Amino acid sequence: MRLKNKVALITGASSGIGAGIAERFSNEGALVAVNYRPDSPRDRDAAELAVKSYKASAIAVEADVSKRDQVEAMIARVVKELGRIDICINNAGIEIKHDFLETTDAEWNRVLGVNLYGSFVVSQAAAREMVKQGDGGRLIYISSVHEDIPFPGFTSYCASKGAIRMMMRNVAMELATHRITVNNIAPGAIATPINKSVLENPTAFRNAVSEIPLGRFGTPDDVASVAVFLASDDAAYVTASTYYVDGGMTQQVTLY
Ligand code: BGC
Repeated sequence: MRLKNKVALITGASSGIGAGIAERFSNEGALVAVNYRPDSPRDRDAAELAVKSYKASAIAVEADVSKRDQVEAMIARVVKELGRIDICINNAGIEIKHDFLETTDAEWNRVLGVNLYGSFVVSQAAAREMVKQGDGGRLIYISSVHEDIPFPGFTSYCASKGAIRMMMRNVAMELATHRITVNNIAPGAIATPINKSVLENPTAFRNAVSEIPLGRFGTPDDVASVAVFLASDDAAYVTASTYYVDGGMTQQVTLY
């Protein structure tokens, strides 16, 4: 067990990559807080069912990560019910496909609000607790291969992920003296609900796989393996880095 008795908050953990990380962390002995968004009974049920199935103590915590008051209440609840906070996985994220010329302010603000502001405010609130506790900690942002490579039709998403890359590196510098390490995991094409339309369209799926040197979509567990490493004592000397979990996708190999 590599995370025994560590307390971990994972945002956006009722499905997809976040759910995969929460389950793995629990199996590694962590006490997990599974965040889900308000106004979605399906997400609440999934989060509550998940925490009941874990062997280690775990709680489901509701909060819209783009709202500071809800985030601060969530962090306070984690500390009250699980005792402290050692690991914060900033995973909650959304994407809205719309051409640059058509993108509305509402779409831009929603994507940047959840992905970038949400990552800022959750990691800040968690880091304040870690600094108070005084014995280090781990902040991990789930960015994307699109913190670096373009994704036409997804300018707001790419802007949020590129910004997370710089935020992560800056925060890592500021928190280093507190022994809080700060890193990104940049997933490529992972088989989760965010990719539903591609997974259900054989042509789009074939095209997507052809861009992945390892020849398959990743799984939430592929991402969780790296998250366990970064959250564990094994990664004590790793900070300000991005770990790509993309089957080689970012190399953009030219095949002709
Ligand atoms: C996006 C997916 C996309 C993948 C690879 C992820 O960040 O959320 O929609 O398939 O990057 O392009």
